[in-house]
Formats: sequence, structure tokens, C-alpha cells
Amino acid sequence: MFKKSVEDLLNRQVEREGNSAVLYLSMASWAETNSYAGIAEWLYAQAEEEKMHMLKVIRYINERDGKAVIPSFDKPPADFDGLKTLFDQVLDHEKFITGSINEIVAETIKENDFSTHNWLQWFVSEQVEEESSVHAVIDRLNLVGDHNLYIFDRDIMSMREEENGE
Ligand code: FEO
Repeated sequence: MFKKSVEDLLNRQVEREGNSAVLYLSMASWAETNSYAGIAEWLYAQAEEEKMHMLKVIRYINERDGKAVIPSFDKPPADFDGLKTLFDQVLDHEKFITGSINEIVAETIKENDFSTHNWLQWFVSEQVEEESSVHAVIDRLNLVGDHNLYIFDRDIMSMREEENGE
């Protein structure tokens, strides 16, 4: 049985995944206009993934005979205070999303919705990967330092490809 409380939290997640997508799009655009082509590519790819997450939730709600509601999204900031701050913001945002997924998992347990609980495990694993990949980016950024951002910008996409086994 698909409970309204679970459906509502999943619809909240649709909005949050969409907000993630527009936030990362804005970051990507900022990076691109500041000549960080590699970082822009990484962030555009991240935004695409968030859109895919949002779609996954929309389609699941509808598949369960619920009703996915397409919300408007928060206008993201257009400017960012440097790369270190930007990636710290990405990490904070991903931690927020992890918490949000965990709240839905908790609700499915409370409501005995084992199908949704099972379906959510993909998101639980995905959040571990996302947080770990942002941590890796921040570690690399700290390692190269402010004077070697060209190298960081050149290497960031290969970090993503290594994680994806490409
Ligand atoms: Fe869809 Fe990055 O959480």
C-alpha cells in the first residue's frame, strides 16, 4: 500500500533533486564563464545526473498509482565565491540530500512500505558514492593548491571517469 505520507515525501524529493540540478547547472555556467572548462563539464554532468534522479522519483510515484507533482525550482545563486567554497557547497548540499533520502527510508519503515524501502536502496548507495566523489574532488583541490588550478581543471573529468570505471 502506497501511503500518502510516503508519496508526499517522494514529491518533496522530486523538488529537491530538481533544485540540485538547477544549482549544479548554475555552478557549471559560472565555472564555464570563469574559464574552468573541466570543472564546468563535471558540474554539467552532475546536473544531468540530478535530472535523472528527479525523473526516477517522478516515474516511481506514478508507477505506484500516486501523482507526481512537478514543482517550480529555487532560483540558484549566479555567483560563487571561488572553487573551494563552491565544492564545499556541493558537499553540504549532498549531505542535505542524504538526510532527505534517509527521512523517506524512515517513513517507509514506519508505514511498512517495503517495496518503496527496497526501491530507495539505490538512492542510499548513490548518496554514498556522491558524497565520496565530492570528498575526492575537495581532497584533490586541497592538494593542488590555488596556484595549480589549471591542472585541477584539466584532471577533474578523468577523476569522474575513473570512478565510473570508464
Ligand atoms: Fe540526487 Fe546528488 O543527489
